[in-house]
Amino acid sequence: MGLTLAEYHRLTPLPRPGGVLYVKPGARGYRDPVYEALQAAVAPFGQRALDLNPGVGLASLPLEGRMEVDRLETSRAAFRCLQSSGLKARLAPPWEAEENAYDLVVLALPAGRGTAYVEATLVSAARALRMGGRVYLAGDKNKGFERYFKEARALLGYGLVLKREGPVRVALLEKEREAPPLPSLWHPFQARLLGETFTFFHLPGVFSAGKVDKASVLLLEALVGEVGREGIRGRRILDLGAGYGALTLPLARLGGEVTALEDDLVSVLSLERSLKENRLAARVLHSDVDEALAEGGVGWGSRPAQDQAPGLTEEEAFDIIVTNPPFHVGGAVILDVAQAFVEAAAARLKPGGGFFLVANPFLKYEPLLEERFGAFRTLLVREYKVLFAEKARRG
Ligand SMILES: C[S@@+](CC[C@H](N)C(=O)[O-])C[C@H]1O[C@@H](n2cnc3c(N)ncnc32)[C@H](O)[C@@H]1O
Repeated sequence: MGLTLAEYHRLTPLPRPGGVLYVKPGARGYRDPVYEALQAAVAPFGQRALDLNPGVGLASLPLEGRMEVDRLETSRAAFRCLQSSGLKARLAPPWEAEENAYDLVVLALPAGRGTAYVEATLVSAARALRMGGRVYLAGDKNKGFERYFKEARALLGYGLVLKREGPVRVALLEKEREAPPLPSLWHPFQARLLGETFTFFHLPGVFSAGKVDKASVLLLEALVGEVGREGIRGRRILDLGAGYGALTLPLARLGGEVTALEDDLVSVLSLERSLKENRLAARVLHSDVDEALAEGGVGWGSRPAQDQAPGLTEEEAFDIIVTNPPFHVGGAVILDVAQAFVEAAAARLKPGGGFFLVANPFLKYEPLLEERFGAFRTLLVREYKVLFAEKARRG
């Protein structure tokens, strides 16, 4: 058996010079060779440093106490670790960095987030640096390092690769020219879902940019097939890992009272704008799995980190829970999160409530559903499968 929900939410302290570094499942930047190589390479330069993809904070740790270090982080899970470790950090996308303000930028390339996000991050790094400022840039040669290094050199000027360890590369660059303006960040697109047209707006780096994922479309079809359009009106619905709202918007349009939980800030911002542009309402919480619900569930979860597992209050139980969980196979982080989604669904459903999960056919969620709910049904199998489980009624 994997992690319980309490174990998923627990912070683990690791010793570090002068304190502890907290890590947790679902938080990036730990046991990652790119971050480790960067940590081994960075050295202080000037007064102010900026870590633009800190994760749990490993890469810029050697600068702590030797320079002023700012960190911009978008993941709620990673941000909770940074705060608990006492490392200065702000929940913000990279393009919100102060301009011409830093002597040094530390950047583990966010390669998993797609080209548009990496490019916006590189331009943000160039804009954040003062003239003559430096960047430590690290990445994996199988995940586009060479191309991004070239782009970074074109933006900044001078640069050389300091270190090659297996596929991992660390480069040092220096800003020799004025940075260009930021590329336009918002991308609108239209999609028809459950017979209605929606205009989504998203920032770079979100899941399924520019087109709603087929898996999400299939989940909506299977859900309506099971409960009917009228079975959504007035129901309390939880969307776990909501992205820019491919599930939230159509369910809100059908009259569902949707709570959307999402770990990634740029997805949260995209979802909020998409709701507004389509004149729809839902409760959007920036949340590592169901953490924000445990915090009381109002606003953006800005309360201090807790290392306690969340408790369930009556008002935080749902009639329907939907999810298209993060699915990249091979990343232990991601599988921990997907499993925590199932655990959270089992914990947060009302008795008699239904859980709808869409996944790649080769991902084996069935044993976990059987264990957590006692039974499940497969509603549909095409390119993806939609699984359904009901929470037992009391008595
Ligand atoms: C496969 S996408 C689905 C997005 C959206 N529901 C859709 O159908 O397009 C999974 C989403 O889960 C989010 N996610 C990943 N880890 C998370 C976590 N720990 N807590 C909440 N959301 C998370 C990702 O940022 C991503 O937006």
